[in-house]
Amino acid sequence: MTSSNAGKANIGVVGLAVMGSNLARNLASREGNTVAVYNRSVERTQLLTSEHPEAGFIASETIDDFVASLAKPRTAIIMVQAGKGTDAVIAQLAERFEPGDIIVDGGNALFTDTIRREAEVRAKGINFVGAGISGGEEGALKGPSIMPGGSEEAYKTLGPILSSIAAVAEGEPCVTHVGTDGAGHFVKMIHNGIEYADMQLIAEAYDILRQAGAYSPAEIAAIFGEWNKGTLESFLIEITAEVLKQVDAKTGKPLVDVILDQAGSKGTGVWTVQTALNLGTPVSGIAEAVFARSLSSQASQRAAVDGLPADATAWTIEDKVAFVEDVRRALYASKLVAYAQGFDAIRAGAKEYGWNINLGAVSKIWRGGCIIRAQFLNRITEAYEADPGLVLLLSAPYFADAIAQAQEAWRRVVIAATQAGIPAPAFGSSLSYYDALRAERLPAALVQGQRDFFGAHTYKRVDKPGIFHTLWSGDRSEIETEPSSH
Ligand code: 6PG
Repeated sequence: MTSSNAGKANIGVVGLAVMGSNLARNLASREGNTVAVYNRSVERTQLLTSEHPEAGFIASETIDDFVASLAKPRTAIIMVQAGKGTDAVIAQLAERFEPGDIIVDGGNALFTDTIRREAEVRAKGINFVGAGISGGEEGALKGPSIMPGGSEEAYKTLGPILSSIAAVAEGEPCVTHVGTDGAGHFVKMIHNGIEYADMQLIAEAYDILRQAGAYSPAEIAAIFGEWNKGTLESFLIEITAEVLKQVDAKTGKPLVDVILDQAGSKGTGVWTVQTALNLGTPVSGIAEAVFARSLSSQASQRAAVDGLPADATAWTIEDKVAFVEDVRRALYASKLVAYAQGFDAIRAGAKEYGWNINLGAVSKIWRGGCIIRAQFLNRITEAYEADPGLVLLLSAPYFADAIAQAQEAWRRVVIAATQAGIPAPAFGSSLSYYDALRAERLPAALVQGQRDFFGAHTYKRVDKPGIFHTLWSGDRSEIETEPSSH
């Protein structure tokens, strides 16, 4: 560190709510880091420094003092609410930073905002990095999974700092330079979309075990505890068991039974589906998870259909052990589809936005620290390391085999849930996605005929090149609208 940098911080954090404070504490706990901190309301800064004197923070009450307390190249992580607050802090820093300095947005910003911001800030010679940080408040403090975008130049300085605080999985820090400009926030968005699907699938498995199997929340917690010892081992399965064990102090009932069944959403799942639709890549499991949250909040519609006949057939279970195993297999197969769709969306985004994203590296950093951390992410890593050009995760030998083994149970569960009137949209859409992928012929041929009939939108043929249209309102002969280039 040059003499002018002596006594200054090698990293700064702006925004000291819980996530920002925990990230600052994590940074300060690592050898070699001196951390500057600043918050618009000074009380938060004073609270953090008074509660954690051991951190040795360089605290500032003004943005000018904060900037002055940073060693060059100045590097600051913004941890404020995505949106206008982020833009305001970026502007404050960009006014005071010099070429070569680094501004990091550690919030859940929309990747297209990050692409815009990176270009605006780069025009001043300043580096802008959108970094997805996953793992919630505990992850921020103990070791998150970190998905930075931005330039290679910025990563030379930022990489070692982020590696010092990231979670560690299989001996490797859960951080990698995902790609340029908005790539980091894009991948974090997909992470959240997969998170939505994973949570929905777990919730559907719970509902089937509860409604069809008549298991209590505590019994289902034990079942999830067993599942967490096998291929479903993951943070979400682990915490689900904890939530289901929880008893409400006020009523003595299982907490899950006193929580209102209307799910919230901060929006990252919606972004994932909107983006995937624009990219033309199906993320049916993620979409069904988003729709399920929306439907759950349609209180008046749900009340309006109250009492409508279900005409459901009770789910007859001869062997409860086999029933539970069927649900486990259906959950695992549906989860594989959701992750395969998520990774496919990353591939499509990288192609669209010109990012060189290493899917194996992404699966590696998701093995620890993040909300979707799971043992089977090692299998995904192995699949992409064995074949970096894999066009679809499900075609990798391990996953093709896992799906094959689960298929009969998967079908039994989707059929029985449907007959029993138990909603399982993510299970069902994942199975249909798989069946559509496998299909020799899809009814899309009929859709093309319909489109040509009412809109003369033309169609291709299976037996010869070219673009064709049938004269539906005339003699119904077929004409070639665009001679084939062959
Ligand atoms: C993470 C989480 C986090 C997410 C919140 C709220 O990776 O730490 O994904 O970023 O924003 O959990 O998510 P929803 O309100 O959208 O469910």
